[in-house]
Amino acid sequence: MTGETETNGHSLASEQSTSLATSGERLDEPRLQGADAVVADLRLLLRGVTLPWRDLGGSLGGPGPGAPAEMVHLRVSPAVADQVQAFGRLVITDRENSPVGRVTGATIEHRDGETWVKGLPEPSDRSETAQDGLGDADSVVRAGKDPLVVICQRPLLRAEVVALRSQTDAGVDLRIIVPDAGPTPDHMPHQVLRRCLERAVPHIPTASWPIAWRGHDSDHALARATATAMGASRLQLLDNEHPQWRELVADLHRSGDSPVRDVVSADTWAELTRWRPPRLRRGLVVFFTGLSGSGKSTLARMLVEHLEDVGDRNVSLLDGDEVRRLLSSDLGFDRASRELNIERIGFVASEIARGGGIAVCAPIAPYALSRAAVRERVAAVGDLVLVHLATPLAECERRDVKGLYARARAGLIKDFTGVSDPYETPSDADLTIDTGQHAPRTSLAVLLEYLCLGGWLSPQRTRDEGVGLTTMDPKERP
Ligand code: ADX
Repeated sequence: MTGETETNGHSLASEQSTSLATSGERLDEPRLQGADAVVADLRLLLRGVTLPWRDLGGSLGGPGPGAPAEMVHLRVSPAVADQVQAFGRLVITDRENSPVGRVTGATIEHRDGETWVKGLPEPSDRSETAQDGLGDADSVVRAGKDPLVVICQRPLLRAEVVALRSQTDAGVDLRIIVPDAGPTPDHMPHQVLRRCLERAVPHIPTASWPIAWRGHDSDHALARATATAMGASRLQLLDNEHPQWRELVADLHRSGDSPVRDVVSADTWAELTRWRPPRLRRGLVVFFTGLSGSGKSTLARMLVEHLEDVGDRNVSLLDGDEVRRLLSSDLGFDRASRELNIERIGFVASEIARGGGIAVCAPIAPYALSRAAVRERVAAVGDLVLVHLATPLAECERRDVKGLYARARAGLIKDFTGVSDPYETPSDADLTIDTGQHAPRTSLAVLLEYLCLGGWLSPQRTRDEGVGLTTMDPKERP
């Protein structure tokens, strides 16, 4: 049971602080939930891979010192650094809070205004590497004699399947590696990639490795380091920059179909279209952002009503104020609270999209980084359309439907967006509407037109519902 105890170093009673749970493990050891790339790098290190960089979760040319070494570096908050200073070590856990490993002999370093932990990686007593030795995947690879290792960022093209078959026919010992520490660089879930590969070359053994991709040069270096640790001198990295793959995947994202679909096998194409069906059936998040009073709730509600009237999709509304009341009543309006609020909305919205539904979200979402994180999260399961309601502050303040601007100006509400707190104008909005210039019905028509042209809605059904698709008339006033 002790492994399930929350041991963040803050909450435990003092008598537990020196007790040992298992050999070497202290209940109050500081823990840090690592980002996916941090956890992946630690898992690789514990499988004997020499990372091409020092920072866990880093990349070639990342912010820390470049040369690989036994010592690893990890950026932490000052609060975590204080705990590590006292203990000399730090347990790193995955998303589910299960320990993956720890950094021992840890010291703190300050670099460019950031705090880093420096130390030696080792398995934690409960980590899977400690329990399973080197793991199945590794033994599969090591069983062969200098195998040719094929590490995949994407499915195989038909021509590559033929080439691999002739290699196995010639007696080459082939291994296919499916990186499973996150989606592919094209946002494809690793489970989809694995199914594509297993159906394309069922006779070649596949193994999963905890590789999280970071960008071209770093990915190649990481693949080389992984192959070396596997004892394989021959490596083929199927990277996602192959021109035929680029064309296919761009078509797939755009429309769910492609004139060059024959570059992959029918089985692979079936898997790909199950992941990325045509947009009329694909999960969608319509994410409004804008100041309080910019018209987000009104337009979001009108869109949801329209979609419900059409009736061929499951639609959910995540309105800012309602989410605050039901999901985020514990949060305030400081930056960290707003970020967590948007993360929660992004999580729920992506789960709706995963099931093929449409999520309409309408928070202020003032920070570009939070909005980008939602986009990234949704990318693996569907599409996101970012709609910026660029209604000027003066107009929002003139409306002041809830009387909040007056109270904010009077100093009764602090950190009020647009008055005493920032709003970062999106540079990546898919659609920008100033609701001060247009009647709500016109704004809705513009949005529906965008969604129809993009293929997410059927123009026929939208017209049948009586909303005339229109080009916005800038002179029109509400
Ligand atoms: S967000 O920044 O986290 O995206 P969210 O959309 O959930 O904000 O909540 C904004 C709503 O909370 C506003 O429409 C307004 O009614 C209310 N509110 C209360 N205090 C504030 C504040 N300090 N800043 C902005 N909105 C506030």
